[in-house]
Amino acid sequence: PGGIPPLDLAALIRTIPDHPKPGIMFRDITTLLADPVGFARSVDALSAPFRDGRIDKVAGIEARGFILGGAVAHQLGAGFVPLRKKGKLPHKTVSADYALEYGTDAIEMHLDACQSGERVLLVDDLIATGGTALAGLSLLRGAGAEVVAAAFVIDLPDLGGAERLRAEGLPVTSLIAFG
Ligand code: PRP
Ligand code: ADE
Repeated sequence: PGGIPPLDLAALIRTIPDHPKPGIMFRDITTLLADPVGFARSVDALSAPFRDGRIDKVAGIEARGFILGGAVAHQLGAGFVPLRKKGKLPHKTVSADYALEYGTDAIEMHLDACQSGERVLLVDDLIATGGTALAGLSLLRGAGAEVVAAAFVIDLPDLGGAERLRAEGLPVTSLIAFG
């Protein structure tokens, strides 16, 4: 009696084989987000390790990182910094390129989005190769932020992204791993 009943978050993630291309097992979080308890528990679990972490800002990566990062920022009483795909932010930006399976893309952050020494938590839905998160890390560190950790709902450990972030000295947390 009492306590919070367990919830199988992984069971709320939908897997779409061969999307967006053959061989990719796409981990679709829309089913998790649509579940009121699943969404709330995910945000709670992402936030929990950082409740006493004096986080000034949460940086969320477009697009799925906005949904989770905004909710985590609210929970932690932190501000929110959007890291956007290139060309979307209206004011002066800094930009970081990252590798995709074919070619490169870039994410951007407003130049004045965070101040030197601010404690920032990086949030996204999923880490695969880590290219996107590493680009975000470089923007934040370039602005002088102290990036405290990166938090993801899903880790795909076979793709090595979490290890790449840890090799940069960044602690990584995740709620679910898919092998
Ligand atoms: C997905 C996901 C992460 C990134 C992870 O975003 O939301 O941001 O890929 O991959 P990586 O670790 O190999 O960099 P996507 O680029 O598909 O954009 P979206 O959120 O706009 O769909
Ligand atoms: N981003 C990169 N790899 C992904 C995957 N397998 N599922 C969902 N988003 C992704």
